[in-house]
Amino acid sequence: MTLSLAEMATEVLTTADGKAKTALSRRHAAAWFASRNGDAPAIEVGVAKPPLRPARPDRPELLDPRDVPKRKPGSPAGRIALLHAVAHIELNAVDLHWDLLARFGHVPMPMGFYDDWVKAADEESKHFNLVCGCLEELDSHYGALPAHAGMWRAAEDTADDFMGRLAVVPMVLEARGLDVTPGMIKVFRNAKADSAVAALETIYSEEVAHVAYGSKWFHFLCGREDCDPKEVFHALVRKYFHGALKPPFNEEKRAEAGIPPDFYWPLADEVPARNRGSA
Ligand SMILES: [Fe+2]
Ligand SMILES: [Fe+2]
Repeated sequence: MTLSLAEMATEVLTTADGKAKTALSRRHAAAWFASRNGDAPAIEVGVAKPPLRPARPDRPELLDPRDVPKRKPGSPAGRIALLHAVAHIELNAVDLHWDLLARFGHVPMPMGFYDDWVKAADEESKHFNLVCGCLEELDSHYGALPAHAGMWRAAEDTADDFMGRLAVVPMVLEARGLDVTPGMIKVFRNAKADSAVAALETIYSEEVAHVAYGSKWFHFLCGREDCDPKEVFHALVRKYFHGALKPPFNEEKRAEAGIPPDFYWPLADEVPARNRGSA
């Protein structure tokens, strides 16, 4: 029996091991695109009941961000810790994209929406494996260090809000990746760590498209609901995002991804007030 896209997504979400999860993710993405190209029978989008939290391996140990030990980024141990944090983000991103496909399958969307997010999930799977390869070259592995426990919070907070999910995950969290990745590439270039530089450059170039998918489909939904995208974006980020939008922003790549400065700068200006409010 052919699984629906939503059922495929749920299978990925309920697979705990990172390598098994990403292998399944890549297989399901290939099956989806074979069906879309007419090389295999059609796969329907379908509906499913994804878990509120995805299955995860026993390791890494997940800690409150404040308890994750900080290491100097210039040291060998610091570079391993940085790659480990990136691997954790990528594995989380695999689950975030499949969760979007599983959780909101009941909302009618153009087929291009599913193509974009299946492609993004496939790329995140590749990113996780690339970064795991870099860790293994350094005699480490994903799971060797503790990792942030709070990564899934954005997904839980927006489990019932499709537009909120698009605003917070691709347009805030993945856009943040565009801001910080050039600095990371510099760290590994200085250390002459060629495979890490290559992996991060692949990630950097492909992440622009993920942010662009977020912006495209967010604007599509605003158009369908006849509401102002910038106002809705600000309201949703204020409602669901608990961190700070921190400059400096990568204005060039954000623009390439369809996020204009008046979307993020007004929220960055609010940081001191929000910090006071939560103190
Ligand atoms: Fe990624
Ligand atoms: Fe991404």
